[in-house]
Amino acid sequence: MSRRTLRAGLIGLGAMGHNHARVLSSLDGVELVGVMDPAGDCTGASRNTPVVATLPELLALGLDYAVVACPTALHEEVGLVLAENGVPALIEKPLAHSATAAQRLVDAFDRAGLVAGVGHIERFNPALQSLRSRLEAGELGEVFQVVTRRQGPFPHRIADVGVVKDLATHDIDLTSWVTGHPYVSVSARTVSKSGRPHEDMVSVVGDLSDGTLVSHLVNWLSPHKERYTAVTGERGCLVADTLTADLTFHANGAVTTEWEALRAFRGVAEGDMVRYAIPKREPLLVEHERFRDAVEGKATDIVTLDQGLRTVKVAEAVLDSARRKASVSLRRPRTPAAPLVKPRHAE
Ligand SMILES: NC(=O)c1ccc[n+]([C@@H]2O[C@H](COP(=O)([O-])OP(=O)(O)OC[C@H]3O[C@@H](n4cnc5c(N)ncnc54)[C@H](O)[C@@H]3O)[C@@H](O)[C@H]2O)c1
Repeated sequence: MSRRTLRAGLIGLGAMGHNHARVLSSLDGVELVGVMDPAGDCTGASRNTPVVATLPELLALGLDYAVVACPTALHEEVGLVLAENGVPALIEKPLAHSATAAQRLVDAFDRAGLVAGVGHIERFNPALQSLRSRLEAGELGEVFQVVTRRQGPFPHRIADVGVVKDLATHDIDLTSWVTGHPYVSVSARTVSKSGRPHEDMVSVVGDLSDGTLVSHLVNWLSPHKERYTAVTGERGCLVADTLTADLTFHANGAVTTEWEALRAFRGVAEGDMVRYAIPKREPLLVEHERFRDAVEGKATDIVTLDQGLRTVKVAEAVLDSARRKASVSLRRPRTPAAPLVKPRHAE
């Protein structure tokens, strides 16, 4: 049976919008029918697709769905118009600039009964997908700790939010997703060295609901770019590099000792190291394929707006903790915390 071609629109043709335009232009079953950006298209990234300056002009082209890649501070305003007009939307991360705005988006798309997702692209990185499957299969045994580092140079174009909402939301989302557990508390410190109103460096320590310890170092002040996730457990450590999509396993050594006094010591020794050969598909393409399938009504795995909201709430708790120099609880009063993802046994 031949599939109907979906008419997609793109909102925002900046650094990320360029990538969305490239992927949407060659996505099977989809036609990119229009792009909206008040600044127009000075680089030719729209590839002959009409570029309009306003949202009503884009909607007039007749859309089956839209991708929102304008600045974060505008996600709410644009998303609410799309929901009002019955247009499903894939909204870039973070879902919105505040938890209140993110909640309004969740409510609007819920009320309209529309498919909507958040572009937390790290979930589609092959290294993290493989890491998550290995945790689900119990390859590490009990998980003790998740450590992430996301450092790099300053992005002059991002001015509406700080590094916590812009970059650390990647770490917050991926940590809950790979482990399957929500955050219950965070403690953080930030600094602002660039002279802008928002923070540009953060250190976070937190706890997940199962007791896993987490730590995130995220900044825009490093000439060295890295995207590092390490999960340490009973049997060793899995390290994902999401720039190269490599996943490496450092196993605990199986060292026996005849020294009676040391047998009681339960530390670890260095064992084998394996770098897995994993198929590497472009994360943005996989994200788009999943969203297209969801719009077509197929059962597929997208990042829901509720999950995007939860991530923004954790980011706000991080900022609150840094402001107050105190640990902030994310436990919901009285009702038990709902997991960010379905329990593993239910999948
Ligand atoms: N998933 C990822 O890895 C990733 C990476 C980068 C950016 N992002 C997200 O994508 C969004 C855009 O970031 P960017 O780096 O492309 O920013 P950018 O500044 O490069 O581009 C933003 C574009 O939006 C346009 N714009 C401004 N007002 C608009 C409006 N009212 N309607 C439509 N377009 C408008 C600007 O002219 C500009 O072309 C942000 O939410 C950011 O967090 C996600």
